[in-house]
Amino acid sequence: MSEIKYPELAEQGKMNLEIAELRMEALLEIRKKFEKEKLFEGIRIGMALHITKETGILVRTLQAGGAKIAITGCNPLSTQDDVAAALAEEGVEVFGYKGETSEDYYKYLNKIIDFKPHITIDDGCDLVSEIHLKHPELIDSIIGGCEETTTGIIRLNAMENDNALKYPMIAVNDNKTKHLMDNYYGTGQSTLDGIIRASNILLAGKTTVIAGYGSCGKGCALRARGLGANVIVTEVDNFCALQAQMDGFRVMKMEEAAPLGDIFITVTGNRDVITAEHVKKMQEGAILANSGHFDNEIDVKGIEKAAKSTRRVRPMLDEYIFGNKKIFIAGEGRLVNLAAAEGHPSEVMSLSFCGQALACEYLVKNKDNLEAKVYQLPEEIDDHIAGLQLAANQIEIDELTPEQIKYLNSWQEGT
Ligand SMILES: NC(=O)c1ccc[n+]([C@@H]2O[C@H](COP(=O)([O-])OP(=O)(O)OC[C@H]3O[C@@H](n4cnc5c(N)ncnc54)[C@H](O)[C@@H]3O)[C@@H](O)[C@H]2O)c1
Repeated sequence: MSEIKYPELAEQGKMNLEIAELRMEALLEIRKKFEKEKLFEGIRIGMALHITKETGILVRTLQAGGAKIAITGCNPLSTQDDVAAALAEEGVEVFGYKGETSEDYYKYLNKIIDFKPHITIDDGCDLVSEIHLKHPELIDSIIGGCEETTTGIIRLNAMENDNALKYPMIAVNDNKTKHLMDNYYGTGQSTLDGIIRASNILLAGKTTVIAGYGSCGKGCALRARGLGANVIVTEVDNFCALQAQMDGFRVMKMEEAAPLGDIFITVTGNRDVITAEHVKKMQEGAILANSGHFDNEIDVKGIEKAAKSTRRVRPMLDEYIFGNKKIFIAGEGRLVNLAAAEGHPSEVMSLSFCGQALACEYLVKNKDNLEAKVYQLPEEIDDHIAGLQLAANQIEIDELTPEQIKYLNSWQEGT
């Protein structure tokens, strides 16, 4: 039995799902194939993914292949209650609501474990980690799992290195059609969307400090510049720092950027990137937001401790008083694009979720040959996803001629 908060929102949820479906044509192509093949007949898929309208379309795609689905969120603030209500009405087992307590978060994760999934789909590795730590008895019946995000892959690699990983995992995030699209274009747009919805601040002319110049940071920097911001990047990796500089951004330490920024965005997958010590140096009115997976990139607890007082001033904006200064944190320091906006737009999630759907297919088709390791999907699958999206966008590209293929595979021909 589902546990959701607002069943009366189901009608709104259905309309949002309809809109998402219009924009996720590549995923709908995969759904048609699944409908014919019924590859997931008898298979239970347990998901810990943001419960958004786009995830709803992934759920329907896997159901079309015959799967039974149970889903919970992977962040206490990201569930869209209307979508949760609509999916529950469709017979999916849904557990979650926006603003969950930590207790409910883990209670719902355990509802997915009670469902005894054959395949797990995670965003951040909480489900896999809970199964490995507390429910090892389930592992024998699990075919494998799929992981959606960079932070989850980092945790899985650590598990593999510790010989702790006990079933095969597909690193969906490592698809080019995922991290070079979703993390870049999706996080870029939706992070700024979240900050704007939380604060309604104008970006033009504002100094925006972006911590981390990986896939997400590059996307945020690109879009912030597009809106007229002066972008500063902070990094710990020499190459990424150099890339940021050559892309035309100022690069410096967070300590130096702290007094200069109007807006701060963390997207590092690392902890304590902005601490109370940095905040003390910031200007009046500075806004802090995190778009990395966990809420430890900005040390919210440390900042709260060091602040004179704090209060909520808008639905997703908290004010902290330092001396005579007001500093703001958007979305409680949790994924701002999901806490204060609606997450990535459907078009980009279509690509990511083609990856999830085809990863499930890959696990089922190859279940007898996979070990307890972290796998990447073969490049042909990534290429197929890009092709599906191009077709959806009605774009045709050139094809290699036989002479070109021969040329590319030869070494004799030169100057
Ligand atoms: N908001 C979203 O919807 C969304 C979407 C995709 C990924 N993510 C999450 O965003 C985070 C970043 O993902 P990514 O794909 O960009 O990862 P990435 O590995 O491509 O980039 C992270 C960058 O942060 C840098 N970094 C690490 N510690 C740092 C520090 N202390 N200061 C400055 N820079 C530091 C790294 O050197 C790296 O270049 C992850 O937690 C990921 O799970 C969020």
